[in-house]
Amino acid sequence: MTEYFTMDAYRQAANVIQQRSGLRPTVGMILGSGLNALAESIEGATVIPFGDVPHFPAAHVQGHVGRLVMGVLEGRSVIAMQGRGHFYEGNSMAQIGLPVRVMRLLGVETFIVTNAAGGLHLAYQPGDVMILRDHINLLGMAGHNPLFGPNLEEFGPRFPSMNDAYAPRLRAVAQEVALRAGIPHHQGVYICLAGPAFETPADVRFLRLIGADAVGMSTVPEVITARHCGMEVLGLSGISNRLAGEEGSPPPNHEEVLEAGRILVPRLETIIRGVLNSPALGSL
Ligand code: HPA
Repeated sequence: MTEYFTMDAYRQAANVIQQRSGLRPTVGMILGSGLNALAESIEGATVIPFGDVPHFPAAHVQGHVGRLVMGVLEGRSVIAMQGRGHFYEGNSMAQIGLPVRVMRLLGVETFIVTNAAGGLHLAYQPGDVMILRDHINLLGMAGHNPLFGPNLEEFGPRFPSMNDAYAPRLRAVAQEVALRAGIPHHQGVYICLAGPAFETPADVRFLRLIGADAVGMSTVPEVITARHCGMEVLGLSGISNRLAGEEGSPPPNHEEVLEAGRILVPRLETIIRGVLNSPALGSL
């Protein structure tokens, strides 16, 4: 497991991608479990399997395709990851963050990250969208942070701020789009656990108590990496299941996550297209 990468490794990965596509993307996206169908609507797509790019993480989970799609969406140049590497697959934190830094080298300024998450907040229903207002980095508190190792000043400072990690203006645009389209949505706090085991009822009560609204096994490492290198971030969770936190309540399962994804794909697509359309993202 590689603990951290040199600047050369990031450049090597970026070069391989640049050789395949002349596009200079300004928007980067990660499409999580069951949500990767969003990439199908990218026009003029160049598709690059993760395995073709040096140092990219392994993404083996069912519902995760593991490839890069570059092209145009709503008139903007985008690079999307269909699937992502997870910590529970044996990827290091640095490996999970690597594609984000590579996106930065390719020119990405705005980072849109999606995931499937379990609803902790009692009002959240499967199929709802949660716009991330903030996160709790439980994995980081346990000693797993993608910025461990020598700091690469080319990307950002040693001690980056995580205040307003999720850009208030992008959240406002996403909320506006969701409201107009009648998509059930919330703004809330995401918490990242290592997985792959789902939470116990006692875990669920603990996570709710410490202020989390939705729980998943991704996103936070990528967002920390994106903020470190100065990207603006929008995070969207698709709520795939409810977590009651009561003994005897039905456990979540991966099929349920994928099933909810089918309802969530058009909802997230509407929000993402609306955000891409917004002048808040700046000119092309
Ligand atoms: N827990 C953790 N991760 C998840 C869940 C869950 O209930 N649902 C989707 N991802």
